[in-house]
Amino acid sequence: MERKDVLVPEADLARQRDFQENIRRMFEGRQAHPRACVDTFGCQQNVADGQKLMGMLQACGFTLTDEPKEADLVILNTCAIREHAEDRVFGNLGILTHTKKEDPEQVIALCGCMAQEARVVKRIRESYRHVDLVFGPQALWKFPELLWQVYETHGRVFSVADEHGTIAEGIPVVREKGVKAWVSIMYGCNNFCSYCIVPYVRGRERSRDPQAVLAEVRALVEAGYKDITLLGQNVNSYGNDLDTGYHFPDLLADIDQIPGEYLIRFMSSHPKDATRHLFDVMAASRHIARQLHLPVQSGNDRVLHEMNRRYTRQQYLDLVDYAKRVMPGLVLTSDIIIGFPGETEAEAMDTVSLVEEVGFDALFTFIYSPRPGTKAAAMPDPVSREEKQKWFDKLLEVQNAISAKLHAAYVGKTQRVLVDGESGDADYPLTARTEGNRLVRLKGDKALMGQFIDVTITGSNTWALYGEAV
Ligand code: SAH
Ligand code: SF4
Ligand code: F3S
Repeated sequence: MERKDVLVPEADLARQRDFQENIRRMFEGRQAHPRACVDTFGCQQNVADGQKLMGMLQACGFTLTDEPKEADLVILNTCAIREHAEDRVFGNLGILTHTKKEDPEQVIALCGCMAQEARVVKRIRESYRHVDLVFGPQALWKFPELLWQVYETHGRVFSVADEHGTIAEGIPVVREKGVKAWVSIMYGCNNFCSYCIVPYVRGRERSRDPQAVLAEVRALVEAGYKDITLLGQNVNSYGNDLDTGYHFPDLLADIDQIPGEYLIRFMSSHPKDATRHLFDVMAASRHIARQLHLPVQSGNDRVLHEMNRRYTRQQYLDLVDYAKRVMPGLVLTSDIIIGFPGETEAEAMDTVSLVEEVGFDALFTFIYSPRPGTKAAAMPDPVSREEKQKWFDKLLEVQNAISAKLHAAYVGKTQRVLVDGESGDADYPLTARTEGNRLVRLKGDKALMGQFIDVTITGSNTWALYGEAV
């Protein structure tokens, strides 16, 4: 698709603002004070989408609530990555039959990645008749118009066509209070890893204009955000579709020039096109955190090939070696799938040995979940769930020991951290993050919130560090 067709024209965005205004006036006319509840189930990309939904909802005159029972509009912003994620959504939809029975005027919407799956949409059409509005991620920017249609027609509205996807700039955003912000730099995925549903539900890769990203990050820094994460399914392919020769390391280098006290993180980074140049740019920067989330998925070459990951174990290890060399103290995390169809115990143990060899600071670990429509879902998968669980437990045991050991090495050291939250714990009332994004439970005064401070690490376990302000 050509660039001009990817960018949503300003006139179309203005039309959406008109729909927002229509909805606001409609409620004003009824002297109603509508409330909306947005429930997000997915990854950071989905969280970022949820924040745009909330922005549009506020523009439509809604106030936000966390309580579906008291909401005039409930939106489930869904995730399709594993079966468990989908089951949770169907469970929640079941519960909403009761809230709707009590308030028949309640509008129920389902959006996010599940809404882009034909199988799910069919089930909702047929068996979840209390759902009024269904729209996929590619239709997010049209939400005001879709909602208006629901109110106008009192009928069910579906916007779930399989689309390439567009880029809509300038949608209002409701951010979390505090110092953390998410910035999508690109949307979609072209990689078609054989197990993964994302390319089917999120459309093709499309990069925002560098100027738009830079302006957003600059505004966030000026507004006091200090921990900003750039999002994309694979940020390393940022710019490929711009055809200007401008790529992710260029974007990082330009962002790094923005004055202020802040950290930049990014995820996810696909090893097949993470380059040494990227790591050099990170190493030379002032604001890019020495932290890398580099999903490896497997440590066995046959499985990696079947997963369509397009790198080998050795290539991954070489990449990590280089990154650690140019960024001493680099914090490294990864995603792992255990029990890919046809994986043997020996192959799963190759993954465990890779984990030992690399020494990740932490892992996100998953047992393979078949996603209908993907290539892997059609592959023979003879190993039982119980057997996979054993391999998975072995992996966890190994990783937990590594995390505990790496964390213990912090004890006695001074770390610069960003104080980012409060905890219920009376002894350690604050939470903070190191540059590497390790969680620190902190003794200290609430007034430190939102500040970068030096702390002494006094204790640790597998999941967290403990510290006191210096
Ligand atoms: N775009 C990111 C991944 C997004 S999904 C990347 O490529 O790094 C987050 C993680 O979910 C993946 O890295 C993978 O480990 C896991 N995952 C994806 N599909 C899965 C499936 N079908 N079963 C189990 N885990 C899966
Ligand atoms: Fe899924 Fe692979 Fe795309 Fe990540 S890169 S979203 S795992 S297809
Ligand atoms: Fe889930 Fe969609 Fe994210 S499937 S992991 S919400 S891109």
